[in-house]
Amino acid sequence: MSTIEKVSILGAETIHVGYGIQDHIVEVVINTKASSTYVIITDTNMGRTEPFSKLTQLFASKLKELRPESRLLQYQVSPGENNKSRETKAAVEDYLLQQGCTRDTVILAVGGGVIGDMIGFVAATFMRGVRYVQVPTTLLSMVDSSVGGKTAIDTPLGKNFVGAFYQPEYVFADVSFLKTLPTRQFINGMAEVVKTAAIWNEEEFTRLENFSKKFLEVVTAKVPDIESIKHELVKTVLESIRVKAEVVSSDEKETGLRNLLNFGHTIGHAIEAVLTPEALHGECVSVGMIKEAELARYLGILSQVAVARLSKCLVAYGLPVTIDDKEFLKKVGNKRHYVQLDTLLKKMAIDKKNDGSKIRCVLLESIGRCYQLKAHQISKQDLGFVLTDEVLVHPFKDQSLKSSTVIIPPGSKSISNRALILASLGKGTVRIKNLLHSDDTKHMLDAVTALGGAKITTEDNGETIVVEGNGGNFIATNEQLYLGNAGTASRFLTSVATLVKPNKNSLDDVILTGNARMQQRPIGPLVDALRANGSQVQYLNNEGSLPLVIKAGSGLKGGRIELAATISSQYVSSILMCAPYAEEEVTLKLVGGKPISVLYIDMTIAMMKSFGIEVKQSLTEEYTYIIPKGTYQNPQEYVIESDASSATYPLAFAALTGTSCTVPNIGSSSLQGDARFAVDVLKPMGCIVEQSATSTTVTGPPLGHLKPLPHVDMEPMTDAFLTASVVAAVAYDGKNSTAITGIANQRVKECDRIAAMVNELAKFGVKAHELPDGIEIQGVKLEQLVNPSTEKRGIKSYDDHRVAMSFSLLAGLCNQPVLIQERSCTGKTWPGWWDTLHSQFNIQLDGYELPFDADDSSLLIDKHANGDKSIIVIGMRAAGKSTLSKWMATFLGFKFLDLDDVFEQRVGTDIRTFIKQYGWEEFRSKEAAIAKEIFTEKSRGYVISTGGGIVEGEDARNTLKDYTKQGGIVLHLHRDLDETVVFLSADTTRPAYVNEIKDVWIRRENWYHECSNYHFYSSHCDNELEFKHLRNSFISYIKTITGLQVSELSRKRSAAVSLTFKDLNDVAEHLEEIAVGSEAIELRVDSLNKYSKTFVADQTATLRKYVNLPIIYTIRTESQGGLFPDHEVEQLEELLLLGIKLGVEYLDLQSNYPNSLIEKILERKAFTRIIISHYDNTGVLKWTNVEWKNKYNQAVSYGADIVKLVGTATSFQDNLDLEVFRSAANLKPLIAINRGEQGKLSRVLNTVFTPVTHDLIPKQSTNGSSGLLSINQINKAYAEIGGFTQKKFWIVGKPVDHSRSPNLHNAGYKKLNIPYTFDRFETDDASLAVKKLIHEDKNFGGLAVTMPLKLDIIKHVDELSEAAQLIGAVNTVIRSSNDPNKLYGDNTDWVGITTSFARHGVPNIENSNVNGLVVGGGGTSRAAVYALHDMGCKIIYMINRTSSKIREIKESFPADYNIQILETIEQVEAAASVSLVVSCVPADKPVDETLLNKLERFLYHGSTTKNGGFTPTLIEAAYKPRLTPVMRIAHEKYQWSVIPGVEMLVNQGERQFQLHTGFTPPYRVIHDAVVAE
Ligand SMILES: NC(=O)c1ccc[n+]([C@@H]2O[C@H](COP(=O)([O-])OP(=O)(O)OC[C@H]3O[C@@H](n4cnc5c(N)ncnc54)[C@H](O)[C@@H]3O)[C@@H](O)[C@H]2O)c1
Ligand SMILES: [Zn+2]
Repeated sequence: MSTIEKVSILGAETIHVGYGIQDHIVEVVINTKASSTYVIITDTNMGRTEPFSKLTQLFASKLKELRPESRLLQYQVSPGENNKSRETKAAVEDYLLQQGCTRDTVILAVGGGVIGDMIGFVAATFMRGVRYVQVPTTLLSMVDSSVGGKTAIDTPLGKNFVGAFYQPEYVFADVSFLKTLPTRQFINGMAEVVKTAAIWNEEEFTRLENFSKKFLEVVTAKVPDIESIKHELVKTVLESIRVKAEVVSSDEKETGLRNLLNFGHTIGHAIEAVLTPEALHGECVSVGMIKEAELARYLGILSQVAVARLSKCLVAYGLPVTIDDKEFLKKVGNKRHYVQLDTLLKKMAIDKKNDGSKIRCVLLESIGRCYQLKAHQISKQDLGFVLTDEVLVHPFKDQSLKSSTVIIPPGSKSISNRALILASLGKGTVRIKNLLHSDDTKHMLDAVTALGGAKITTEDNGETIVVEGNGGNFIATNEQLYLGNAGTASRFLTSVATLVKPNKNSLDDVILTGNARMQQRPIGPLVDALRANGSQVQYLNNEGSLPLVIKAGSGLKGGRIELAATISSQYVSSILMCAPYAEEEVTLKLVGGKPISVLYIDMTIAMMKSFGIEVKQSLTEEYTYIIPKGTYQNPQEYVIESDASSATYPLAFAALTGTSCTVPNIGSSSLQGDARFAVDVLKPMGCIVEQSATSTTVTGPPLGHLKPLPHVDMEPMTDAFLTASVVAAVAYDGKNSTAITGIANQRVKECDRIAAMVNELAKFGVKAHELPDGIEIQGVKLEQLVNPSTEKRGIKSYDDHRVAMSFSLLAGLCNQPVLIQERSCTGKTWPGWWDTLHSQFNIQLDGYELPFDADDSSLLIDKHANGDKSIIVIGMRAAGKSTLSKWMATFLGFKFLDLDDVFEQRVGTDIRTFIKQYGWEEFRSKEAAIAKEIFTEKSRGYVISTGGGIVEGEDARNTLKDYTKQGGIVLHLHRDLDETVVFLSADTTRPAYVNEIKDVWIRRENWYHECSNYHFYSSHCDNELEFKHLRNSFISYIKTITGLQVSELSRKRSAAVSLTFKDLNDVAEHLEEIAVGSEAIELRVDSLNKYSKTFVADQTATLRKYVNLPIIYTIRTESQGGLFPDHEVEQLEELLLLGIKLGVEYLDLQSNYPNSLIEKILERKAFTRIIISHYDNTGVLKWTNVEWKNKYNQAVSYGADIVKLVGTATSFQDNLDLEVFRSAANLKPLIAINRGEQGKLSRVLNTVFTPVTHDLIPKQSTNGSSGLLSINQINKAYAEIGGFTQKKFWIVGKPVDHSRSPNLHNAGYKKLNIPYTFDRFETDDASLAVKKLIHEDKNFGGLAVTMPLKLDIIKHVDELSEAAQLIGAVNTVIRSSNDPNKLYGDNTDWVGITTSFARHGVPNIENSNVNGLVVGGGGTSRAAVYALHDMGCKIIYMINRTSSKIREIKESFPADYNIQILETIEQVEAAASVSLVVSCVPADKPVDETLLNKLERFLYHGSTTKNGGFTPTLIEAAYKPRLTPVMRIAHEKYQWSVIPGVEMLVNQGERQFQLHTGFTPPYRVIHDAVVAE
């Protein structure tokens, strides 16, 4: 047994810590806590683990041995916070009672905090309190929840709201239990560990900083080897427990000291309350700690270094430090926008740790120490500031400004970097102060430590870095030196690495490497110079970039070194600093002209002098330096000069406010260019500047007396131009403006700074304009300064620290508070800027939150619609790329581009000739290059069709993949291979590779899949009509994948028929019939007889061809009652992704799929809706069990659009329980049913997408289908039990005895088995109909209204649809959905027209130039105009026998309908051609000659132009006779496609049926009922 450490709490040593101490636990409990009954309670996760089994087995055998008379009981509850509930507590208590447990019972709670808290609470109240022992098994519970005796359960209104203080007999923290703890839980626990050290124990904090790397390595490994860090872990747990026990002992009931443990929790809890359960406690506390630390910094209590240190440590343990952390966001997904300031403040106010509405936080004073030993009351204003990223700067003049201030801005970055290198090359100990902590310094510190060059420690809580230099003796290490993206570090260390000596194990390489970006940054000129000087340096990957291998011991020879210094002065500094250690004295000559940034070279030389080495400049040669041999002698102390660019802000503050400000460590001797700002800019503008060698003081003139600077060249201090600009904005003398030049480089910084200044200055009413290399600013009088509007979102920072800091100054000169966005961007160089403004300059700042922008669709849907981004089409030759691409281009209003054409244009010959001349390889590489160019050049508004072989080349494949990665659509068009072969064989003009097509396909198939993110399979078309259907289904597919159409989620009753066929092609002709009554159709992919991608794609195409319903794509695995093998996870993933590529409307994901799989699918899902399902086949899980609630909540938190839960009924009661469950689950639409014969009722009562079957679907095709009902059976049963009330529908008008509406509707009711009736009511009196049918009959369902009542009825309805208003007639009346006492009138005649056109293959014409014609001037003509406009006709022509009526129609429609009335034949001749005609003239008498003449001209032109790419189509409004004279002429004489009037009747009836009943009618059935007559 390993050693056991005991910690005492409240006076007793009851906390025992160790590794693998199960024996000890068992012995101590049994020996010291005598009882008749021991109960071990855990959760089912823990119950499965090895350390747990070991514990229970040992317990059982020991008990038998020591107390044979006692019994051991075991109970397991479901895991998770959801179960920390009253229900579960009750279940545990019931169990204990049933088992006859009495007051002497001892309970062992083995598990995480959930188990500890809840079982602790059970123990506290069971029999008024029984003894209990905690065995925490998560890191969090070991270090936190198990210590201190707080127990609790959650209620729906809040976490931990009900509980008690109740101390356990013992706490056994056995670290070996952590072996099975999931990584995320492990990391979660570290938040509390870091917290405890941060408030109490700096030494432990330092140890934790050093342990982080190893910790993260181990816990994130595929198979974590916890044993390998057991000592560190035990220590970690122990130290944390010690602190907590100490604090608790002095303050058990949390009245004072114990509050300190809540550091990070005030804000953390509020965040957790919003983001639970997606975010874990520790993660939220981690973010909370940083926010609370920033609060302390803001209040002037905590230093920036300490905040940075805390943040760095948390990050090193894999914890988030901001809500916008990428990994963290992935977990909380679209809940991010719930985290709003108001919400957080409310949550904080009700946190029970806060009393009343006062919010308290623990303030850190330094790492390891709190500011006073209590929590402090914090103002909402201060909290608001730290919790938001927008800031309102209040007017400076309202505040009590100090007349003088001393500010030390953060250290200079360049000086910090140099100081570190020199100190580690030097001999002796130096204390470096005011170091700027950046990536560069961090990587340099790590690297010199790894090379043994220096010992580095910190003092003053991290404020001082102590470097103990080793005189330049570096020893090779087998650790690669990783430098991230730290540019300066990589350059400085490359030269340093040449000084490294081999180590004793004759290891003689030093490897410098960095991240991907770093591996592209140049370092060539430096390496060349070093190589030329005898150093052995090699590139590992890319020539000219890191990683580098540097041979240790090869040294620097010295002598004359030449270096091109026109690229980077850092190369020069790098060699200069190492030069004293060369074998011979170095003469460094900079070649290639004037070196850039000479100031930085001077800075290096000056600093070398401070470290004891004096460089001489050659007197004879230009740009040549002589560096003597020697060793740097570290000074005792080196204070890093503050950053001179940063210093411009406080100095400008003084200038603008008429106060004084001193920066005590920058003066005239400074080598930083920006140090001249005060003298060269502020002084001539009217400030008093006093500068010594090392200090600068600026005093501003009285308010309003700054003078413009007609011209200043800021080339030596470009970064300071922004500060100068805001000062110039209020420098006014009535004549001059300020022109700043020499700053062209500022256009390519974090943003185009010149443009940014011009834009934002304008918001203050200050005119400025760009100069070729600068900016000119027209200063204004102070009182003319305009307040930038907060509503218009104030001032933008462009994520640029300098923009933000500059404008924070100008903001204060306004009369009103000014909003500055993204304030945290100042973190790049001065994270504490705002704190300085607040606590040193006394400026009032407020947090501000931009209003949540509900129009920002990215917050509502997970993926942006494609917009006008170009779409790339790939696929085999003859797959229909050109045709379908053109359809798509027409529909989207994009241009079509064929890449092959582009190729031929560019090379000037056709492809075949090109290949003959240059060969395939050249062709492919040229093709790839052109593709790459075109995809960028034509990235918007194009459909780009590619050559079939484009996927053959790797470059082209990468280009395609990159396109998808950037969110673009690459669509793979796929057609049956046999058809392709037939097609190509028939085409003799193509090269003769026909025989090899199959091989080609086999070779390319995977490439096509790999390179595309969408996939459309064109099904085989036998005839023209099928071809039209293909077009419709393709366009509908395009709408789905581009996000133009997102399937609507409705909660009304609907059914989804489940197709469990092996191959849909076998039943293709029955599919329409099978789908009758369903609102969606489920494709059970698992029941297909092949799982190949091609086959599955073909199945969806078949389905789409025959049924126009959303597809639910389901792969049910064997364990959930389906046919798909559970272990084929890879294939499962492929097929699920295929579903998304195929653009299915719904995808079913089983909750038992691996997490990573679910997450991946959710990430890729685009516009497909997700159903998350869970099946229980055992029947063991009753609906009263909280487990179902967990499953539901879990699915919701994953982001399911619909949740599907399927239980198994073993008794009728199961259905009733299910209904109770259903009524409580209303977060997301729920499909919940019971399988089994006894579960049928649940299918009848389910609302959304009830799974149904059909007589034509084989019964036994899958197991688990028992209890399935057809839609007819369900509706019948639902009616029988009173679910549907009887409803009556009528056709009213006169005459109505020939109306076919009753046939149509009644046939539909019958087919669907709904208990409605539809009758005739003949009258020409609208009031009578309303009185009799509606007012006097409570069963009234709806009216179909015909002549002559379509207008009269309007005055009786309360609401009108837009169509009814514009058409000016009502043909359908129902009760209003808002208020059943009101009536709603609609007109469905126009739908009859649009649907008929669509069913006849007229494509969507919204973006093409198609015109329409309406013949006639009656009521139907009005509907026709509405219909043609709705379809997208650009011009609607109207002709009639007489014009007066159509004039009236034209008048009554909006002008954008573009109705044109043609009266003369000449006008008709001059008109554009039309492709759609609606004929609304009576068909029972001959058509007027002249009218017919006009019509025929349209018919003639229409058939010759074929505008819109489809056969022009005419619809006849009259439905008798079936073939009217107009139809005959149109079809026979002009080859128009014609639609008989009866179709229109059926199609309008279909919509009417829907409005009346809420159900989609069976189309075929109602159609036949009308036509059959
Ligand atoms: N009483 C207190 O002072 C106090 C303090 C902090 C937190 N808490 C409470 O603690 C709870 C959180 O505790 P937690 O973080 O331990 O969560 P938890 O108990 O839910 O455990 C996390 C997950 O890990 C599983 N698990 C636990 N031990 C495991 C192991 N060794 N191997 C594999 N899986 C294991 C659990 O089944 C669970 O799924 C919260 O309810 C919180 O309110 C209480
Ligand atoms: Zn906590």
